[in-house]
Amino acid sequence: MVLAPLKRILLVGSGGIALVKLPALIRMLRRQGYELRLVLTENAARFITPLTFETLLDHPVYIDPFARRDNLLHIGLRKWAEMAVLVPGTANMIAKLAHGIADDLASAVLLGAGGTAIPRIVCPAMNDAMWEAPATRRNIEQLIRDGWRMAGPVTGELACGDDAPGRMAEPEEIFRVIESLSAGDKRAPYKIVITAGATEEDIDAVRCITNHSSGRMGAALAEAARERFMDVVCIHGALRVPPPQGVRLIEARSARAMLQAVQSEIADANALVMAAAVADFVPDVKAAGKIKKSGSGMDLHLVPAPDILLETRALRARAGFHTTGFALESDALAEYAQEKLAAKYLDAIVANPCSEPGAGFGSETNRAVYLTKDGAREDWPTMPKREMADRILDRVLLALSETKK
Ligand code: CTP
Repeated sequence: MVLAPLKRILLVGSGGIALVKLPALIRMLRRQGYELRLVLTENAARFITPLTFETLLDHPVYIDPFARRDNLLHIGLRKWAEMAVLVPGTANMIAKLAHGIADDLASAVLLGAGGTAIPRIVCPAMNDAMWEAPATRRNIEQLIRDGWRMAGPVTGELACGDDAPGRMAEPEEIFRVIESLSAGDKRAPYKIVITAGATEEDIDAVRCITNHSSGRMGAALAEAARERFMDVVCIHGALRVPPPQGVRLIEARSARAMLQAVQSEIADANALVMAAAVADFVPDVKAAGKIKKSGSGMDLHLVPAPDILLETRALRARAGFHTTGFALESDALAEYAQEKLAAKYLDAIVANPCSEPGAGFGSETNRAVYLTKDGAREDWPTMPKREMADRILDRVLLALSETKK
């Protein structure tokens, strides 16, 4: 069934300097035939005069819920809308939405939009310290759980002049996200599944076998994918770094739990990046309760853990699906990686040295040899993990665009 594209869009602008990008978005949407209504917060109306928007929209802008003696205004607008876009989304407005606070027209109408489950997009815009703040992290996670789609933010120049995450996405990108949601699934963004961190295999109620992976590479990949407007799911074990921000998170502690989560998430995905350090051996049984100290040693019997890449081979073997694996090696980096590339049915592999300063587990930087199944080889020098994540994602996106969805 082909659904008619959603054309009635409710824009809500909250008070940040990124509001200056809204006129460009309005022009693009109008040119494409969208019908628009705009609600501004009072603070937003201090950044740009409503008259500017009314001229562009050829329609009044709504700010005060009581101005028209119409206290049902927020309900009327919500019933009219087929999609809602919070642009820009300040930390304050995001916090209000995460908690269901409706103390002005903008927040009331968006709260109601959540109740009717129309597509909702949030375009965060704030200073990097506010974006990284634990409260904002919690609130963004809540919005994602509540079904909001994220458009940005990206790393770039902020109002304060710093180059950091928190910059609102450009109007062209927001337009693209709106278009894809408006048109339904056929033009949906690429879905990517990224695993991160260390698995933990329980020995008893209090002890486990794990490894030194920090999860930094996987978290950087998830954020780099979000900045490329992909639909990102990050399946993670133990993390020693803050979880990636603005993506869907699924915790999977053990190799078996991670396998199950990967199997279910890749079913409708376009790409998988296996950056997690997954156990190779797991205790054959988990002892009930806590094993008591006996005075003598104890034997632990380990059995092979499921190999997630091997177990998902059939699920991944479909046209256009792209898989990137990692290889952590103490020597003969490229040779072992080449073997894993073939043995694990990968499209590409990122091989990192594990016994070299500035690379591997826990390090802020990484060095890699990048190999593809088509025989390409790139030697990447030591660089921040986020920069390496950008390189990997650019190659995944290129491969996806070449094979088409
Ligand atoms: N991997 C996996 N399932 C496992 C172990 C690893 O899917 N149980 C994935 C990793 O996420 C990585 C790739 O396989 O993308 C290679 O992992 P690595 O630890 O380098 O290799 P192993 O297959 O575990 O082989 P070895 O430890 O012998 O080098």
